[in-house]
Amino acid sequence: MKEVKRALITGINGQSGSYLAEFLINKGYEVFGTIKRNSVSENQTARLDSIYDKIKDNLIYADLLDVPSLLHALKKSNPSEVYNLAAQSHVRISFDQPVYTAQATGIGTLNLLEAIRIYDPSIKMYQASSSEMFGNSIDADGYQRETTPLNPVSPYGCAKVFSYNICRNYRNSYGMYISNGILFNHESPRRGTNFVTNKVVKSAVRIKLGMEKKLVLGNLNATRDWGHAKDYVEAMWMMLQKEESGDYVCSTGVSHSVLELVQYVFGKLEMDWTQYVSSDDKFMRPEELEDLKGDSSKLRNETGWTPKYTFETMLDEMISHWLEYYSDIKK
Ligand code: GDD
Repeated sequence: MKEVKRALITGINGQSGSYLAEFLINKGYEVFGTIKRNSVSENQTARLDSIYDKIKDNLIYADLLDVPSLLHALKKSNPSEVYNLAAQSHVRISFDQPVYTAQATGIGTLNLLEAIRIYDPSIKMYQASSSEMFGNSIDADGYQRETTPLNPVSPYGCAKVFSYNICRNYRNSYGMYISNGILFNHESPRRGTNFVTNKVVKSAVRIKLGMEKKLVLGNLNATRDWGHAKDYVEAMWMMLQKEESGDYVCSTGVSHSVLELVQYVFGKLEMDWTQYVSSDDKFMRPEELEDLKGDSSKLRNETGWTPKYTFETMLDEMISHWLEYYSDIKK
């Protein structure tokens, strides 16, 4: 048994990686994380600002496509838990870069599994699986759950299905502890602004402040089950505390359309959305996943997980974030 719990997070500087790092540090873990070389080093660790002093020496340059770098990361961190959050995670961009997405989001997971199997197969691994894997499969009651067939409709979804399956295969073949969290959309002020929630909130705030005139979106009819990333990283950790590994849907069980998201955010800012919002083909996907709504009963029953944020409180936090951000800039 390793004494101090040590965790390695791939993609630690992403939205969920940064919340997970904070969560695990609060739990007393020593946290390590992989980051990728980027030509703009500024802002690369911006999401880690609040814990930077605690982890700056534990950030390791590594890439899921570079197995020796993964072995170095495992050797340096010597973890009892690995959270695989790194990926090319943007669905529409996966149509522009399908091969890279298949490599990073699919083969990258296999590389990590092999590195763990070589270094120490007793390490517990969390795999960031995704509701995008369901594609347009919906159970008769309108929900997706662990037993819903996987029928992906994007290169990203196809790559995630490969990762999900290869994790199950390694669990069964080698007895390794690997859990798939099938997470539905999760958002926060730290969400990249090319994902729809933060794109809408940031733009609406800028329109309110007179900094922007229009917001151009893609499909307004798609529905998503949006939760808060802070709640979802807790679920990731809870999954790995169970005796046995398994596959778990994590979702709020409530879905809204992109249009309802727009109406809520503009309404909160006391603006008439019809004056500002339009739709353009350039933000449409060649094949769209229309509706997502998750049934997370298995996770809730087995771990006691329950989300603290609602759709509304999550968006309120994001609106406040951008209002404060621009008022600080003006000072
Ligand atoms: N990004 C974006 N930009 N999406 C738009 C826009 C726009 O201008 N206009 C409409 N949408 C619609 C998309 O077509 C989609 O139906 C929905 O808004 C959500 O899009 P995203 O926020 O980009 O998220 P996503 O659902 O494609 O993928 C996210 O969730 C997955 C879990 O289901 C990502 O976080 C994935 O990495 C994650 O696996």
